[in-house]
Amino acid sequence: MANFVLAMTGASGAPYALRLLQVLVDAGHDVQLLLSHAATRVLSAEVGLEVDLAQPDLDALLKFQRRPLAEAAQCPGQVRYHSLLDFNAPVASGSAPSSGMIVCPCSMGTLASIAQGISSNLIHRAADVHLKERRKLIVVPRETPLSAIHLENMQRLTTAGGVVLPAMPGFYHQPTTLDDLVDFIVGRICDQLGLSISLTPRWGT
Ligand SMILES: Cc1cc2nc3c(=O)[nH]c(=O)nc-3n(C[C@H](O)[C@H](O)[C@H](O)COP(=O)(O)O)c2cc1C
Repeated sequence: MANFVLAMTGASGAPYALRLLQVLVDAGHDVQLLLSHAATRVLSAEVGLEVDLAQPDLDALLKFQRRPLAEAAQCPGQVRYHSLLDFNAPVASGSAPSSGMIVCPCSMGTLASIAQGISSNLIHRAADVHLKERRKLIVVPRETPLSAIHLENMQRLTTAGGVVLPAMPGFYHQPTTLDDLVDFIVGRICDQLGLSISLTPRWGT
């Protein structure tokens, strides 16, 4: 089973991150979880979860409005949390293995720091490590409209090998619920990670 790094930052879109965390764990993958301070503000505002960064209640994150995965693994994966300034965490070094990193949701601030190589916290550093080691890095930004600075940072990140996967759900699968829209984005992230998890119907099938 794989070992992913999932970083939640302070852009709108907490439901995407919670669903992704649950899907990865349900599918049997281990997750190293990183949370920014602003992510806790968004979790509180958007889903009413109060998260203590010193000791987050991982069970509460995993159980929040959980929808069991059809293809669930026999053994769920494990979640390990690292605080933002813990540069002793394995994800701070390229010598520790990782199957890929997802920053979801990704604020424009974190996007800028990653694109400019400013490794001032563990999220930025882990992303920097994924780029330098040529490992998969997926960022899921959310902002509208976009400034020239945002666009330049996205281009920079793409050129450096990252995948910019904006939280822009499509409507061609005829969603009827918010869960359908969330699953559209989480499904596309899983596709990028090379996981065969089908959350929404695929076009043409
Ligand atoms: C409820 C809420 C929603 C926010 N939504 C966004 C957003 O969609 N995109 C964004 O770039 N910043 C958004 N912000 C602002 C970021 O949280 C802020 O720039 C923060 O410094 C980002 O820090 P981080 O990248 O370390 O998480 C939001 C803030 C709050 C409190």
